[in-house]
Amino acid sequence: MQSNNLLLLIKLLTLHSLLVLSTSQDFDFFYFVQQWPGSYCDTKQGCCYPSTGKPESDFGIHGLWPEYNDGSYPSNCDPDSPFDASEISDLMSQMKSDWPTLACPSNDGQTFWAHEWNKHGTCSESELDQHGYFSSSLNLKAQINLLKILEDAGIHPNGSEYNLSSIIGAIQEATGYTPGIECNKDSSGNSQLYEIYLCVDKSGSNIIECPILPKGKCGTSIEFPSF
Ligand SMILES: *[C@@H]1O[C@H](CO)[C@@H](O)[C@H](O)[C@H]1NC(C)=O
Ligand SMILES: *[C@@H]1O[C@H](CO)[C@@H](O)[C@H](O)[C@H]1NC(C)=O
Repeated sequence: MQSNNLLLLIKLLTLHSLLVLSTSQDFDFFYFVQQWPGSYCDTKQGCCYPSTGKPESDFGIHGLWPEYNDGSYPSNCDPDSPFDASEISDLMSQMKSDWPTLACPSNDGQTFWAHEWNKHGTCSESELDQHGYFSSSLNLKAQINLLKILEDAGIHPNGSEYNLSSIIGAIQEATGYTPGIECNKDSSGNSQLYEIYLCVDKSGSNIIECPILPKGKCGTSIEFPSF
């Protein structure tokens, strides 16, 4: 009888440690991804401004995504840790200006932030809790002013075409790191500057050289639409 109880205890402890292991998933680095609102909106699908109004003409945060060095990534790691706006109430006004939603129908952004936390943020809980995840992202955005970097290099969001290599070169020059660039297509099929990826160490604070860059489907000449 007693040894049966002991056996049961051992089984329960083993099960418990397996569950803990599976929720505190590890990863290698982050992609910090910013998006150009003009290119999000300038597509066949279009966009909706947030209920708080048209965002500034600036890059906005898309997300901070835990990644593996082989180019794959974990997702939806912890259903027991849903997005909770009350944990980031002190960050709300900065969230609205730096991480604006452009999805339809119009909303205040919580759907976007909940998606990013639930899909990506829950996979870096071994490093950052919910407040840390969002505040790290806001701090990264404050560290790197992409629009200023591009404009200083003569690359303006005015509907002109620019060389992919000049865009990469300008960011390399200013930050010391090689960015990944993603394009999408406007309603007439032209390639346009959509997202800029930088890599960040697991602490969520320091930019690093990317272990692997996203494939990127930009032409050599890409449009930088106004917003
Ligand atoms: C955009 O700005 C660049 C650099 O100032 C300029 O050369 C170009 O003519 C402008 N394009 C448009 C469409 O205004
Ligand atoms: C863009 O690339 C083309 C072809 O490689 C080159 O001739 C041109 O000088 C480049 N323009 C800029 C602004 O770098």
